[in-house]
Amino acid sequence: MNQEELKKKVGIESAKYIKDGMIVGLGTGSTARHMIEEVARRVREENLNIVGVTTSNETTKLAKSLGIPLKEIDEVPFVDVVIDGADEISADFQGIKGGGAALLFEKIVASYAKRVIWIVDKSKMVNYLGEFPLPVEVVKYGSENLFRLFEDKGYNPTFRMNKNEKLTTDGGHYIIDLHLGKIKEPLALSDELSKTVGVVEHGLFTNMVNVVIVGKEEVVETLVA
Ligand code: A5P
Repeated sequence: MNQEELKKKVGIESAKYIKDGMIVGLGTGSTARHMIEEVARRVREENLNIVGVTTSNETTKLAKSLGIPLKEIDEVPFVDVVIDGADEISADFQGIKGGGAALLFEKIVASYAKRVIWIVDKSKMVNYLGEFPLPVEVVKYGSENLFRLFEDKGYNPTFRMNKNEKLTTDGGHYIIDLHLGKIKEPLALSDELSKTVGVVEHGLFTNMVNVVIVGKEEVVETLVA
């Protein structure tokens, strides 16, 4: 089974957690897309009655095109469950997200969710976080200085690009990716980045996930954090 098939499998499996009446956070990325397509199928064919809250403009466009009823995050006091992809998940359930540049809205939706589910193919499960570049969303003003600060700290930063320009996120910011190799202390790094002036949010999602659904060849493994 190739990676795309594994992503589809976990996407479909995760949609089973969605019940009538729920407010559902809809993640971003290629794995979340499969879940969203399955949710749309259930809305269409099973009259599933839910309201979706999206985590990016890309997901809003997709969900609208598939006919999923949506509300803005500020129109709901909480989200029952958010289902999203991830870039890396360590054995102790810490994660890196933001490969698709949607980390800020993804983290906001997750922070209002009663239950957070991540769906991944087995390649995302790692011993240590950090091989995947850690995205840091930063205010544009002063971002070159912030870049130099990260350079001085040895974090090997690169600006996320979109063709020849720096990528602008849905929130109107830049992303600086940190090439760290191995993050020994994710909680300490999370604190440090959160306290750095100019950082809007970062892609370390610590102690946030409740359930991880992993696609592995013939089986789908469900891990409870
Ligand atoms: C979007 O910003 C990300 O957090 C995605 O959820 C993550 O990059 C996983 O994406 P894929 O499912 O496309 O691998």
